[in-house]
Amino acid sequence: MITLKTADQTTKMRAAGLVVSEMLARTREAVRPGITTLDLDRIAAEVIARHGAKSSFLGYYGYPATICTSVNEEIVHGIPSKRVLREGDIIGIDAGAIVDEWHADAAITVPVGKISAEAAKLIAVTEEALRRGIAAARVGGRLGDIGAAVQRYAEGEGFSVVRNYVGHGIGRAMHEEPQVPNYGAPERGIPIREGLCIAIEPMLNAGRPETRTLKDDWTVVTADTSLSAHFEHTIWCTDKGPVVLTAPASGRVSVAA
Ligand code: MF3
Ligand code: CO
Repeated sequence: MITLKTADQTTKMRAAGLVVSEMLARTREAVRPGITTLDLDRIAAEVIARHGAKSSFLGYYGYPATICTSVNEEIVHGIPSKRVLREGDIIGIDAGAIVDEWHADAAITVPVGKISAEAAKLIAVTEEALRRGIAAARVGGRLGDIGAAVQRYAEGEGFSVVRNYVGHGIGRAMHEEPQVPNYGAPERGIPIREGLCIAIEPMLNAGRPETRTLKDDWTVVTADTSLSAHFEHTIWCTDKGPVVLTAPASGRVSVAA
C-alpha cells in the first residue's frame, strides 16, 4: 500500500535528509586522487554518529557499509574498500540516514581530479535529468510523468537509462511502494497525490543500459563496461510543488514546477 505522509512526518524525513545532505557534502569535498572509498565511508559514518542517526544501508540485507561508492562503470551498490581513487575516475556516492525511524536517501556523482569531457557531460546530464524528474513530480500528474521526463532528456543527450534499478517510495522504510522508473510514458501510472514521498534516482550509462552484478553480490556494473552516473533526491510531493527533503540546509528546498 502506498502511504501518504503528513507534514509532521516529513519534518522528520527532512531531519534525516539534512544528515544525508551533510554526508554527501563531507564525502564530496574529500574526493581526490589517492583517497580510498573506505576513507569516504568513514567520513560518512562520522557524520551519522555526530547526529545520533543511523545509516539506512548498514545491515540492509547484510550490506556491510555506511554508504555505497560506485566507480566508473559501476552503476550502484559498490562497497567501500581499499580501492584508491585515481585522477580521471568518476565516483557515485549514495547515502541514506534514519532519524526517529524516518528515512532519507540521496546520491551524487563527482569527478576525481580532471576527467574526460564525455564523463563530465554524463555527470551533468544525469544531474539535470534528476532535476527534470523532480520538476515533473506534480500533484495532479501521474508517476509516469517523472520517468518520461528523465528518459526523454537523457536519451536526447545520447545516454541510456538503466531499466533494472528504479527509484522508490520512502518513509518509515527506505524502500516502499511505488517503484519510480526512470523511463516510461507520460500520463500513465498512479496519480501523484499530496503527501507522496519518493526517491527519484536516474542512473544513466554512456553505452548500453544492460547491467551485471559482480561476484560480491552487490556491485552493479554496466554490461558493456561503459561509464555510469547516478543522482538521487528524496522528495515530498505537495500542492505547492515538490519539496526536496535531501537538499542542503543552505539550499533551496523547493523546486519550481
Ligand atoms: N540507496 C539505494 C537506493 O537508492 C539503496 C542502497 S542498497 C544498500 O535504493 F544495500 F546499500 F542499502
Ligand atoms: Co534510493
